[in-house]
Amino acid sequence: MNESLQRVCKIRNFWTTNSFLIRLDSMSKISPTSANACETLSDSCAFGGRIVRCSHQSTSTGTKMCFSVFEPPAAKTGPVPVLYWLSGLECTDENFVAKSGAFRAASELGLMIVICDTSPRGLNLPGETDSWDFGTGAGFYINATVPPFKGHYNMYDYVLSELPALIDSHFNTVKGVRSISGHSMGGHGALVLALKNPHAFASVSAFAPICNPTACPWGQKAFQGYLGSVEAGKPFDATEIMKISPSPIYRDILIDQGLNDKFLSSQLMHSNFEDACKSAGQKLTLRQHPGYDHGYNFVSTFIEDHLRYHKKYLSGKSTSVEIDGTSAIPSTTGQVIRCKAAVAWGPNEPLRYETVEVAPPKEGEVRIKVVANALCHTDQYTYSGQDPEGLFPVILGHEAGGIVESVGPGVLSVKPGDHVIPAYTPQCCETTCIFCQSPKTNLCPKIRSTQGRGLMPDGTSRFTCNGKQIYHFMGCSTMSEYTVLAEISVAKVSKQIPLAKACLLGCGISTGLGAVWNTCKVEPGSTVGVFGLGAVGLAVVQAAKIAGAKKIFAIDTNPKKFPIAQSLGATDFINPTTDVPTGKSLQQYLNEVTMWGLDYTFECIGNVEVMRAALESAHRGWGVSCVVGVAGSGKEISTRPFQLVTGRTWKGTAFGGWKSREAIPKLANSVIAGDLAIDQYITHVFNGVEKTHEAFEALHSGDCLRAVVVYDH
Ligand SMILES: NC(=O)c1ccc[n+]([C@@H]2O[C@H](COP(=O)([O-])OP(=O)(O)OC[C@H]3O[C@@H](n4cnc5c(N)ncnc54)[C@H](O)[C@@H]3O)[C@@H](O)[C@H]2O)c1
Ligand SMILES: [Zn+2]
Ligand SMILES: [Zn+2]
Repeated sequence: MNESLQRVCKIRNFWTTNSFLIRLDSMSKISPTSANACETLSDSCAFGGRIVRCSHQSTSTGTKMCFSVFEPPAAKTGPVPVLYWLSGLECTDENFVAKSGAFRAASELGLMIVICDTSPRGLNLPGETDSWDFGTGAGFYINATVPPFKGHYNMYDYVLSELPALIDSHFNTVKGVRSISGHSMGGHGALVLALKNPHAFASVSAFAPICNPTACPWGQKAFQGYLGSVEAGKPFDATEIMKISPSPIYRDILIDQGLNDKFLSSQLMHSNFEDACKSAGQKLTLRQHPGYDHGYNFVSTFIEDHLRYHKKYLSGKSTSVEIDGTSAIPSTTGQVIRCKAAVAWGPNEPLRYETVEVAPPKEGEVRIKVVANALCHTDQYTYSGQDPEGLFPVILGHEAGGIVESVGPGVLSVKPGDHVIPAYTPQCCETTCIFCQSPKTNLCPKIRSTQGRGLMPDGTSRFTCNGKQIYHFMGCSTMSEYTVLAEISVAKVSKQIPLAKACLLGCGISTGLGAVWNTCKVEPGSTVGVFGLGAVGLAVVQAAKIAGAKKIFAIDTNPKKFPIAQSLGATDFINPTTDVPTGKSLQQYLNEVTMWGLDYTFECIGNVEVMRAALESAHRGWGVSCVVGVAGSGKEISTRPFQLVTGRTWKGTAFGGWKSREAIPKLANSVIAGDLAIDQYITHVFNGVEKTHEAFEALHSGDCLRAVVVYDH
């Protein structure tokens, strides 16, 4: 083992040993009143590890909740990934513990299994214990919205957020690395939680799941009782979620189904889910077993396959496990690298191509060799001096692709040689980060303050040039042949996608796609208006088409953009300068031609007047308008409040709402699979970092969507 590898391994051992000590320490210190206090009900050895049963006061349900954990022996020496298990109707956590036969394999695989209960208990709510398929033991892993269950039957929140936070603080887990599986009602829960939160789970599988609950008596009763109507259950129905998904959500989904299961045709309906997966292009490994019924003998027969399946995905994601001993450690590891970079010494001053020194990555940082950098308007905006917060001298650039050259102490999720996309919106995944833990946002604030000040998280810069410190930009600074980023700001992607193409996923294209799929969740049959047809607006057009929009209005003052908009799915074209009759505003005109306005409108320019026009051309009663463009500093938006009173919603998106480290690899996989075309956005290619100013010029030309500068190392 060479010296630097030994050093990395030492650090790794230090880290793992220490985190175990912290765990024991924190367990012993927890007071019975603290929010994440946990009482051990039983603790017994099993397969070299232990099975622990605990209870705690849940904030999600307002009751005591019990759960069981199988802790494999590997957890004694380092953090381990976790599989969450959701049980079926009438079960508690104890059924799986007693009957699944899962723990020998879990011990061997170094996999922790957390088994949770199926509902709150002991509330004595009216109707709670009247039947076995509703109320106690039948929480359906949703958040109830109608009394008396509202405020207590919040199993969705419990499984997604509260329980993992508790587990991560009490057990030796790899933080944020989890998968999910379940049986019957728990299979439904696992599918729904995973499909709605792909950032939170590495993989999902199920045994005999209730696949289409809005179409079966169990599900209908549950949704009626907890949500007030069957219709309200659609967002919690795996088949319905898959039906409207514009693209695959997981690389694969594993389902085992016994063919002698008496609930198969009346309650489970796996073929509905199979059809929905087909329509979304989602791979489904559906194994059907003649002779097997619905019980735990069926589960225990196939559980080992599921554990191995999850371990495969968890290891891909967790980095904790291995360091690739065979990969060559570059000779530059630990050294200052001297390389070429485009330095902006002052606002609008010509870029200077300098030799800069790039210091080695510190703790929690990675140094990457930048392979390609695409220009984006935010680079231009700061470079031009319009951004009052712009710092100089600076190395700009944030839409890029690179290869990890070396990693600092404690970095576990990437290793030298990995291909990565810098992410200016990081994703720390920490259980204490309420933003990373919330499915509602991607705005992780972990390193926000230093990133905004052009510095690394420790408050210093890794760049110097001629003895002067150079600022970082958006946590990326990719107009340099080498750069240093926080580990939480790099998304690892497959090596099958060329970095000169994958770089586009680092900003504009992903933003446009996510504005449609995440922020607005455009439904099939919608009408959509896109204001501004740069790469961002065109990605909105492309995503709206994939989402099944029936009419897409493409609006731009430059009619040269219309043919490409048409090729991506736009149906109607408006040039505001020539097509809007004199005396009419753009919004008046649009409201006329569409009758009541458009279901969704997207402003992709950064012009506050157009933002107003976009809002005011959203449909009366329900139209949603999304601000994607970044307006100049100090600009304000306005409209008459009546526009909102009459049902319009004004929204905005940052990086399309994507949780960067989870989403970018998936978008890259869609490109590799041929499901997502992005080549059309690359209109200009240059070679060498010193061609960056030519790329800027191209960006101004009006013909350019994206100019990619490939660095010739
Ligand atoms: N929210 C985010 O996270 C995010 C991410 C990336 C980019 N952006 C922003 O998105 C915006 C678009 O980026 P881009 O790279 O596509 O820009 P772009 O300059 O390539 O495209 C803008 C388009 O708008 C058109 N346009 C300009 N003024 C217009 C007007 N008054 N009416 C109609 N069309 C008009 C232009 O002809 C051009 O086609 C920028 O403001 C950028 O900063 C936001
Ligand atoms: Zn950008
Ligand atoms: Zn975070």
